[in-house]
Amino acid sequence: MSIHPLEATARAMVAGSKGILAADESTGTIEKRFASIKVESTEENRRAYRDMLFSAKGLGQYISGVILYDETIRQKAADGTPFVDLLGKAGIIPGIKVDTGAKNLALCPGEKVTEGLDNLAKRCAEYVKLGAKFAKWRAVIEIGADMPSSTCIAANAHALARYAAICQEAGLVPIVEPEVLMDGNHIIHRCEEVTEWTLNAVYEALYMHRVILEHSVLKPSMVISGKDCPEQAGVEEVAERTVRVLKRCVPAAVAGIVFLSGGQSDEVATEHLNAMNKLFKGQLPWPLSFSYGRALQQPALKGWKGSSANVAAAQAALLHRAKMNSLACSGSYTQDLERQARAA
Ligand code: 13P
Repeated sequence: MSIHPLEATARAMVAGSKGILAADESTGTIEKRFASIKVESTEENRRAYRDMLFSAKGLGQYISGVILYDETIRQKAADGTPFVDLLGKAGIIPGIKVDTGAKNLALCPGEKVTEGLDNLAKRCAEYVKLGAKFAKWRAVIEIGADMPSSTCIAANAHALARYAAICQEAGLVPIVEPEVLMDGNHIIHRCEEVTEWTLNAVYEALYMHRVILEHSVLKPSMVISGKDCPEQAGVEEVAERTVRVLKRCVPAAVAGIVFLSGGQSDEVATEHLNAMNKLFKGQLPWPLSFSYGRALQQPALKGWKGSSANVAAAQAALLHRAKMNSLACSGSYTQDLERQARAA
C-alpha cells in the first residue's frame, strides 16, 4: 500500500528519536527574548540569530523539523542560501507558524482565542510554494477561578479544527497545539482535568471537520502543577498523569505527539519527556517526542548574546540540548550526561 505524502511527512517529523525545534517566535516574542540578552530586535539580528541556530553542524542528527515564522521563511543564511534550503540540506523539514496570535475572547474576560483563519488557504498555498511541509497553530487555555469556560474550549477547538482541515487541503501537515498554560497556583489534578477536557473537545472538532488524523501531529502541554502551586509534582507523577490523559483522549491513528516546553526549565522538560518514554516503553501507539522553543533555545540564546564571536559556543549549547532531548525520546537520558557536558 502506498503511503500518502502527508502521512510520510507526519511520520518523518517524529521518527528516529528526533524532535522539532520551534523557532517561530513572532516579532513581539523574539523582541522579549532579545531584551533578556540586551540585543536590539532588528531584522538583521533576528536573521543572524536564526542563521546561528539553523547552521549548527549536525543538528539534523537530533532535529527532524524546524518551525519558522513568516519573516524567517523568507530569509537567507549569510552566504545567500535560503533558510529553507539550508535546512533541507541538513535533512530537516521546514514548517511554518500560520496562526496570527491569541486574542481576547469576547464576553469571556481573561480568556483567549487564536486568530488567523481569514485567508488561511491562500497563505498556506504561498507557504507551500516557499517550501513548507507542515504548519503550526497554537491555542491557549488558561486555568483560573471559573476558567477555562466551555466557550473558550469550544472556540479554540473549533479554530484548531478549521486550521487543520485547511492545511491538509493545501498539502501541509497540521501540528495541532492546544496549550494548557502552567501559570497559576492550581494543583496538578486540575491541570489533568483541564487537559483531558481540552483534548476531548479538540478531537471531537477534528472529527467534525474531517481532519485525517494519520496526516496530523499533536503538540500538547504536559500535565504539571501550576507554576505557583506550593506542592510541585515530581517527574514520575508528571509522566504518569500526562500519559494517562493522552491514552484517554488521543486516537492511535495520530502520527505522533511532540510536547511544548511551555516555560519549564530546559533540563526539567528533558527529564519529563525521558520519564514518559522510559516508564511506558513499548506500550504507546504513538512516538512521544519534543517540539520545544525555549527549552531548546535558552542556553544558545544566552551564549550568543548577539555577537558573531559567540556563534560556535551558542551552537554547541543548542546541539547539546537537542542531543539530550533526542536521548529522552528513547528513555535513555541521564543527569550524568549533563554533568559530563558541564565538566567538558
Ligand atoms: P515552548 O517550548 O517555549 O513552549 O515553545 C513551543 C512553541 O512552539 C509554543 O507555541
